[in-house]
Amino acid sequence: MTTAAAQASPNIALIKYWGNRDPDLRIPANGSISINLDGLHTRTQVTFDPGYDSDRLTVNGQNLSGPALQRVSRQLDLVREMSGVGEFARVVSENNFPMGAGIASSASAFAALSLAASTAAGLDPDEAELSRLARRGSGSACRSIPGGFVEWQTGEDDASSFAWSLAPADHWALVDCLAIVSREHKPTGSTQGHTLADTSVLQPARVSDAPRRLALCRRAVLERDFESLAEIVELDSNLMHAVMISSSPPLLYWQPGTLAVMHAVRAWRAAGTQACYTIDAGPNVHVICTQAASTQVAARLRALPGVLEVLTAPPGGPARLVESRQGQA
Ligand code: PMV
Repeated sequence: MTTAAAQASPNIALIKYWGNRDPDLRIPANGSISINLDGLHTRTQVTFDPGYDSDRLTVNGQNLSGPALQRVSRQLDLVREMSGVGEFARVVSENNFPMGAGIASSASAFAALSLAASTAAGLDPDEAELSRLARRGSGSACRSIPGGFVEWQTGEDDASSFAWSLAPADHWALVDCLAIVSREHKPTGSTQGHTLADTSVLQPARVSDAPRRLALCRRAVLERDFESLAEIVELDSNLMHAVMISSSPPLLYWQPGTLAVMHAVRAWRAAGTQACYTIDAGPNVHVICTQAASTQVAARLRALPGVLEVLTAPPGGPARLVESRQGQA
């Protein structure tokens, strides 16, 4: 029996990944840039045992089967292929953030699973190899392997599509204030959503302009230029939602509360507050602001009608091991 446990943070994309060139390998249509979210994490323990006759999965104390287990088993199969380990595994995973709060748990989940499973299988992958492996489980998971401010290059194939750190977590004191406007489960998850991207006539324009937006975002991050960052982050989020809204069938994730936060954030910035919005495949709004503005931004968000709760997270570090044991029960 071999076991290992790892911890990884979710991330929020400043430049979004939407659509795949290769859905099976999860080679994205365009590159993306994100920030890991500190204080939020998935912690996952993987144990390979010759006594098991199938893989088992427990998430937040619940035993899961069906599609969730199948997706984890496929990821374990990749690790079994890479390592030659033939045993089934028990996977026990806990999130310290609320599920359905608009924080993508698949990124932290597949980053932690990939690190724990490969370590338990006796592999010692470098950061790029681990990022590639995590990408196979959930595209954005490849960005939860390196720390801080992270870029995922599109790449052309499995070997060249991985993420690396543009700057460490302490490079820039930003805060993600996540305004929760709905706790309802989203009707279309991102894996299915990616398959619809090419049904929008706007997707080719969004993708062909991505290198320009990536360059502007990269420069704004490296130079800590908040005004430039705010403009490109909001444009990129709007472009992704324009594609979503114009897909067939359309994906309309925004709720009235979503729009209320968007308008408020734009008005606050026009009045000098360093804050901007970005929205993933759901109704909740991530408001990125400077640490100096964050107490006021969070308080103002809480006071907006339609905002149920606000979670705050500064930039976080890389995925890391928290336990590893070989040959013991
Ligand atoms: O990694 P996935 O398949 O959950 O896709 C993530 C998609 C977005 O969250 C909407 C954008 C992004 O880049 O994180």
